Amino acid sequence: MTQRKSAVILGAQWGDEGKGKIVDVLSERFNVVARYAGGHNAGHTVIISGKKYVLHLIPCGVLRPGCLGVIGNGVVLDPLAFLNEVKMLKETGLPVDGQLFVSDRAQVILPYHRMIELAAENAPGRTKIGTTSRGIGPAYEDKMHRNGLRVIDLLNHSLLRTHIQNACHEKNTIAHALFGTEPLDPKQMYEEYARYSDQVAPYVTDTAELLNRSMKEGKSIMFEGAQGALLDIDHGTYPFVTSSSSTAGGAVIGTGIGPTMIGTVIGVTKAYVTRVGEGPFPTELHGEVGEELRRRGQEYGASTGRPRRCGWMDLPLLRYSNMINGTEWLVVTKMDVLDTLEEIPVCTSYKINGKVTDMIPADMRGFESIEPVYTTLKGWNSSTEGITDFEKLPKLAQDYLNFIEKESGAKIGMVSTGPDRDQTMTLPSFATTLDTLGKAAS
Ligand code: GDP
Ligand code: IMO
Ligand code: MG
Repeated sequence: MTQRKSAVILGAQWGDEGKGKIVDVLSERFNVVARYAGGHNAGHTVIISGKKYVLHLIPCGVLRPGCLGVIGNGVVLDPLAFLNEVKMLKETGLPVDGQLFVSDRAQVILPYHRMIELAAENAPGRTKIGTTSRGIGPAYEDKMHRNGLRVIDLLNHSLLRTHIQNACHEKNTIAHALFGTEPLDPKQMYEEYARYSDQVAPYVTDTAELLNRSMKEGKSIMFEGAQGALLDIDHGTYPFVTSSSSTAGGAVIGTGIGPTMIGTVIGVTKAYVTRVGEGPFPTELHGEVGEELRRRGQEYGASTGRPRRCGWMDLPLLRYSNMINGTEWLVVTKMDVLDTLEEIPVCTSYKINGKVTDMIPADMRGFESIEPVYTTLKGWNSSTEGITDFEKLPKLAQDYLNFIEKESGAKIGMVSTGPDRDQTMTLPSFATTLDTLGKAAS
């Protein structure tokens, strides 16, 4: 049996937990980093010695020289977004050619996906999700409808022309009939995408074969989750979710690696909770404290710039997330954002119709009846910014982390105390695990 030198790293909440930063820190230990779901709706921020990179589609691993980046079959690829990101990386002096691979089986996002999404989001009578308007949902719809264009088809110009002609006819008719939208021009679209096709072609390969071969050769792989467990199409707060499998299972489907090859699952959680877009949020703060978290945490979307909704740590949701992902390790980010608080309430259970429960409602009406039950912990009220040793954290900050660990059922392996690569601590037991999962730290 091939050694399972691999880890899935994913968002444990509603996205933006700091996955980009943590993937970047951990990529030192991995030969390959692969994205398995979502598209350029993601915004993953990495700060290296003060320089900021925001990656939407390309795995953060490419920021490490020698680390391969893979865009798996589970991703929906907007060719223009991809090429713009490649250009940005090249301009920064990062040699992505030969280091970056795109699955021939990934689905392609085309302009009519965005057109349909924008029209549908604003149509009367439709549930507004507050999407990122990147065409993600309609592209996954076409995939499941067996009507999508895959990257391998993008490379075939005659197939591309026929696909765009047929799809534009259908989408223009639907969008006009339902939403009165102006039609898109298939000829112009074909000419533009034929150009992108030639530029994307050098990166395209059978990435399932590449990943499995890499594992056989003893290389280590990190699967970089996008979005978060609660935005998962099956397990999230439906319909206020994205359209892909952002949970750990998605790493298997979205890359072509068998489930027996996954070494561990690492969930990234903020020390509090945020959410962008519409949907339930039991511990949301509407007043000044919420504003303070947003201000201190700079909680504005990395993709859309929208202000993120902020609230207290929600342990029932974290336990749920750990359960559906089989999360073994947690990484707690943004501890420093809580530095100024006298008291920190943490939601430990829910009351629904007067009854204390640990169940997560399946429907939105259930969520509306939730009364969060809080335990209030003492704030440490001093700076944790940049601390890289657990023992050097204020005692009350250690208590906060120990409480989350005990209540969530997963071990805390790392803690982040600032946005920079260096503002991170790795706990000793996790460091030992990393020695078996990845390559030696350089
Ligand atoms: P992702 O989508 O999960 O990769 O997260 P985003 O990049 O969208 O949002 C996380 C934000 O928090 C980014 O601006 C990061 O630079 C920042 N960040 C990450 N970890 C920390 C931390 O420990 N402290 C602070 N203050 N900011 C952090
Ligand atoms: P990262 O990887 C936070 C949210 C949107 C919206 C819902 C559906 O940076 O954590 P979509 O465009 O996917 O159809 O929008 O999902 N959403 C995210 N929220 N972080 C993300 O990615 C997100 N990607 C999608 O705001 O509520
Ligand atoms: Mg983000």
